[in-house]
Amino acid sequence: MKLFADSILKDRVAFVTGGGTGITGGVARALAEAGANVALASRSMEHLDSAAKAINGMREMSALCGEAFAVAADVRKPEEVEKAIAATTERFGKIDIVVNGAAGNFLCKPEELSPNGFGTVVDIDLKGTFNVCRAAFDQLKQHRGQILNISATLHYLGTPMQLHVSAAKAGVDALTRNLAVEWGRYGIRVNAIAPGPIGDTEGMKRLVPEPIKEKLKQKIPLGRFGLIEDIENAAVFLCSGAANYVNGAVLVVDGGHWLAANRLI
Ligand code: NAP
Ligand code: COA
Repeated sequence: MKLFADSILKDRVAFVTGGGTGITGGVARALAEAGANVALASRSMEHLDSAAKAINGMREMSALCGEAFAVAADVRKPEEVEKAIAATTERFGKIDIVVNGAAGNFLCKPEELSPNGFGTVVDIDLKGTFNVCRAAFDQLKQHRGQILNISATLHYLGTPMQLHVSAAKAGVDALTRNLAVEWGRYGIRVNAIAPGPIGDTEGMKRLVPEPIKEKLKQKIPLGRFGLIEDIENAAVFLCSGAANYVNGAVLVVDGGHWLAANRLI
């Protein structure tokens, strides 16, 4: 079912980290379907090339679809991020949407987590998000653009074996709110989406062992895991003119999961 008007993101250019796989891969594809040109950035050209090829294949079927461009960058390395932002600007002429989806995760008890294990996740999720926002600032300011961070709900409660990611994503929420305040004056909107458990993703595979999947599903008020499409739709809304006055929001898209997660009755 078609939910949005054709071409609502026509003439927009999005830089999407983690845009080669999973949830943010879906978001990149949805932005392109809505008419935006998209740069997909992450470490693996293999991930990026196949995602870009799929989008460019859609474009051959429909001229309403934007074009995709793959550019390798590790978000932990500011100089690689700056080069990727410059390459995107050269390719598409500007950047006016940034989606920060790059992230790392694994299950680990806090007492077994090494300093480098904690630091690696903070480096990718939180510092990586900052590196990209910082590198894209001039473009976003020039074009009154916007940032969409992909957060989580893990840090709303004490989620076992997720200390590192909870700390990093809490930081992402803080960064979202601070930048919304500080960069709002330049017309830059900064928002986040906090997905709940999304089926068929790397995150779910890593975090939810098969035996507890059913139990987890039963705790979700809407009775199902999220679909990547659920996050895509929220992203297209937040990136579109329909959300022109939404700034500093963390939109939870989790079927009501976190609110119900600690309830016994
Ligand atoms: P995913 O497919 O593994 O996405 C993570 C992406 O980050 C990959 O495309 C990976 O690409 C990229 N990446 C990792 N380290 C990077 C680095 N140092 N520099 C640049 N890119 C890097 O997992 P997902 O489950 O779809 O998660 C996507 C986002 O949703 C994440 O922000 C995650 O925290 C969030 N989220 C997911 C869930 C869920 O249920 N799955 C729930 C809440 C939040 P390369 O390997 O090519 O670098
Ligand atoms: N349990 C405990 N510690 C772990 C771990 C695990 N399962 N996996 C990695 N670590 C630790 C490593 O031991 C290392 O610390 P050390 O030097 O003290 O031993 C540190 O984390 C870095 O590991 P490394 O493998 O060198 O990191 P990397 O930069 O190659 O990869 C990860 C980053 C670890 C986050 C990797 O899982 C990744 O690339 N993830 C991307 C995809 C993903 O996580 N998707 C889900 C998103 S929700």
